[in-house]
Amino acid sequence: MEELFLSRNFKIENGHTLPVYESGGGYQRLKKALNMDSATIIDEVKKSNLRGRGGAGFPTGVKWGFMPKESELPKYLTVNADEGEPGTFKDRYIMELDPHLLIEGCIITAWTLGLRYGYIYVRGELQFAIRRLEAAIKEAYAKGYLGQKIQGKDFDFDLYVHPSGGAYICGEETGMIEGLEGKPGQPRMKPPFPAVVGAFNAPTLVNNVETIAAIPWIIERGGEWWASMGIEKNGGPKLYGLSGHIKKPGVYEAPSGVSVRELLEDYGGGMLDGSDLKGYIPGGSSCRVMLPDTLDALMGFESMREAGSSLGTGCITFMDHTTCMVRIAGRLAHFYHHESCGQCTPCREGSGWATKVLDQIENGNGRMEDLDLLLDICDNIEGNTICALGDSISIPVRSYVELFTQEFEDHIRRKGCPFPAWSLRSSASTRAEAVAGAE
Ligand SMILES: Cc1cc2nc3c(=O)[nH]c(=O)nc-3n(C[C@H](O)[C@H](O)[C@H](O)COP(=O)(O)O)c2cc1C
Repeated sequence: MEELFLSRNFKIENGHTLPVYESGGGYQRLKKALNMDSATIIDEVKKSNLRGRGGAGFPTGVKWGFMPKESELPKYLTVNADEGEPGTFKDRYIMELDPHLLIEGCIITAWTLGLRYGYIYVRGELQFAIRRLEAAIKEAYAKGYLGQKIQGKDFDFDLYVHPSGGAYICGEETGMIEGLEGKPGQPRMKPPFPAVVGAFNAPTLVNNVETIAAIPWIIERGGEWWASMGIEKNGGPKLYGLSGHIKKPGVYEAPSGVSVRELLEDYGGGMLDGSDLKGYIPGGSSCRVMLPDTLDALMGFESMREAGSSLGTGCITFMDHTTCMVRIAGRLAHFYHHESCGQCTPCREGSGWATKVLDQIENGNGRMEDLDLLLDICDNIEGNTICALGDSISIPVRSYVELFTQEFEDHIRRKGCPFPAWSLRSSASTRAEAVAGAE
């Protein structure tokens, strides 16, 4: 992409500071929005085809339309910056390198929907992002972009940074709201949805960092322009975090609907020398794993579903032929089991069973009937939990068993793992040995 929007300031010196942000047109979009009415802004967001960048892909304009106009309690904005999904690492770049883009998006959102207070709920480990955001918020207050009577309008909005306790479940929107209220991050039953009963029992908008960071651009150039940089129903540029066995891992901005192949070859530089692609996870580890024959799939919510997986957060992990898929499935199961909040029996117990069975197969104690057992465990978790964390275990585990059945059977027959003892994030030399060992 020739012109950058979400990552424009990433490589500019001091791009995170207010003077540099303003010199590139920053906060002019807020001034423009303050002269627009709520219905017009919501309409632009609807026209933009902006879809939630937190993974579920809900149309942002439609979600905004659910917020009640009137409320006896002050309405809240909660920006989901928990970013705990393995393989996903895009929001932290916005917070660290262009915090004012997010802050300007928050203020425009608050103006549009009459929100009185905003919380950016940041994954606790991201201390650098937290410091950058706090400094930027201070600058914005000093310039009258935050606080009371913003830019002389009858509009008050206060924005805070709230570090999370570092649990993955606190990224689930109602788990986040519970965490914000000082309680353990255990998701709530829905309905009621946060737009009706959210933080502190008040109407609450929940949006991902990247979603909110898109808003200033939609205000500047219009919803149709944003939609034009994408495919049907999926508008605008997006940040794609590329990782795994590729030459140039990192965060890249590209249009919605770019193909996986383009991301791998043109942005990620292709697979590492000596590596053949074995599979990839398209949008965070809770998505179904995909095979190399789907590389021409387009990165959109519908297109990825048609190709057999989901777009999720759009952060892709590429895995080469040295990767043991049983070990990957087991490691993911361990993660989700550890992160299960424990409220729902299928998730709490099922994740533990799946972990044990996968460990047994990997360690050479598996039985052929374990493959059906794993699928049965997945059946019992899927759709039977309060939140989608349960599905985050069953969906990927099922996909590894279904797409790499032969590999699971090999482990069982050989009574052990045929792959070298090597991890996805190994050093170059260990990796070179692993590649050699697998050949
Ligand atoms: C277990 C779990 C963890 C999640 N973690 C995050 C997260 O870290 N960041 C995020 O934006 N959304 C996360 N989500 C999705 C949120 O529940 C919610 O859909 C999203 O924040 C809505 O914002 P959006 O519409 O802008 O995408 C998670 C969902 C689940 C089930």
